[in-house]
Amino acid sequence: MKILGIETSCDETAAAIVERDAAGRAHILSNIVRSQFEEHAAFGGVVPELAARSHVTHLDGIIARAAAEAGMRLDEVDAIAATAGPGLIGGVLVGLTTGKALAASLGKPLIAVNHLEAHALTARLTDGVPFPYLMLLVSGGHSQFVLVRGVGDYERWGSTIDDALGEAFDKVAKLLDLGSPGGPHVEKQALLGDPKRFRFPRPLLKEKTLDFSFSGLKTAVRLAAEEIAPLSDTDVADICAGFQAAVAEIVRVRAGQALERFGDGATLVVAGGVAANKAIGRALQQEADVAGARLVIPPMALCTDNGAMVAWAGAERLALGSVDGMAFAAKPRWPLDSADMGLTHGH
Ligand code: KG4
Ligand code: ZN
Repeated sequence: MKILGIETSCDETAAAIVERDAAGRAHILSNIVRSQFEEHAAFGGVVPELAARSHVTHLDGIIARAAAEAGMRLDEVDAIAATAGPGLIGGVLVGLTTGKALAASLGKPLIAVNHLEAHALTARLTDGVPFPYLMLLVSGGHSQFVLVRGVGDYERWGSTIDDALGEAFDKVAKLLDLGSPGGPHVEKQALLGDPKRFRFPRPLLKEKTLDFSFSGLKTAVRLAAEEIAPLSDTDVADICAGFQAAVAEIVRVRAGQALERFGDGATLVVAGGVAANKAIGRALQQEADVAGARLVIPPMALCTDNGAMVAWAGAERLALGSVDGMAFAAKPRWPLDSADMGLTHGH
C-alpha cells in the first residue's frame, strides 16, 4: 500500500509518499521538505502565526510535487496520513484539514498521526528495527527516552524538566551570535575549540533519573561568556566545545542508565534533529558498545521533520486496521504515553 504523509507541525512544510510492501518493508517514493527557516530567521525563532500562513501557502504545491516525484496521481494512494499534533496548533490545523479534505474528496482512509510516534517509528522505516526498542528523541522541542513496545504502545522513561536539547544548542548559538538553527553552528565551532578550557555543569548527572535538565547549563554558558566578553573567535570555539562536551556526557550517561533498565539485547534508536550531532553520536556509540546494545541513527533527512516518517507511521497504523474519522481534533499537546495513542478502528 502507498500512503501520502503530510507534516506541518513546526516550521517544515512536508509531504511524502511511502510504500509498505507485503513483507512490511518501506520504500520512500518521494519525500519533499520545504523549510521555513528563512522566513523566521529575522525573529530569532519560529513565529507560530507566520508558520501557519506559510504552510497554507505552500502545502498544496508540496503535495503535488510529492505525487509527481513518486510518478503517481493522488487518487492512486491508498490512504492519507497527516500529523495531528503535538505542535504549533495553527500549522497542525493546516496539515490535518488538508489531509481530511483529500481523504474525503478521494474517498481514502485518514490516519491522524502523532508527530512523536512518527519520529519513534522512523527506525522501522529505515532499518526495520523490531519491537521493543528504546528511543532517544532529541529535537528542538523534545528530549525524552521512550520505550517503544509497539505501534501506539509507548512508555516514557524520562523527559527534560526545562529546555529541550536542541533548544539548548539554539540558545547557546544565539548567545554567541552564531545564527540559526544553532545546532550545526555550535557543532562546527566546537570542532575548532578546546573542550577542556571551560568545565560546564552537568545538571542531574549524578541523580538516578532518566530526566534531563539543560537550563542550568545554558545559564552557566551565558555567565562564562559575559565574564570574558568581548569574545575572540577562540573564546567562542572553546565555549562551544565545552558546551558540547557537557551535553554529550549527559546524554551518554543517561543512555547508559536507560540501556541498563532495558536489559539484554537492547536497540537504542535516536531521533530528532540533534541526532545529526557527530559528538553526541560518538558518545552514544561508546555507551552502546559498553552495554552490548545496537545503536541506530537514521539518516539526517529522516531524523529532522519530514513527511516520510508521517506516511510510514500512517502505514504502520493502517496495516493494523487503525484509521481515524473526520471528527479527529488537532492536539497542541499529545504525549506518546497518553491514553489516546491506542489503535482506533473507524468512527
Ligand atoms: O527535529 P528537528 O528538525 O525539529 C524539531 O524540533 O522538531 O530538530 C531541530 C533541532 C534544532 O534545535 C537544531 O539546532 C538541532 O535540532 N540540530 C542540531 C544539529 N542539527 C540540528 N543540534 C546539534 N548538532 C547538530 N548538528
Ligand atoms: Zn519533530
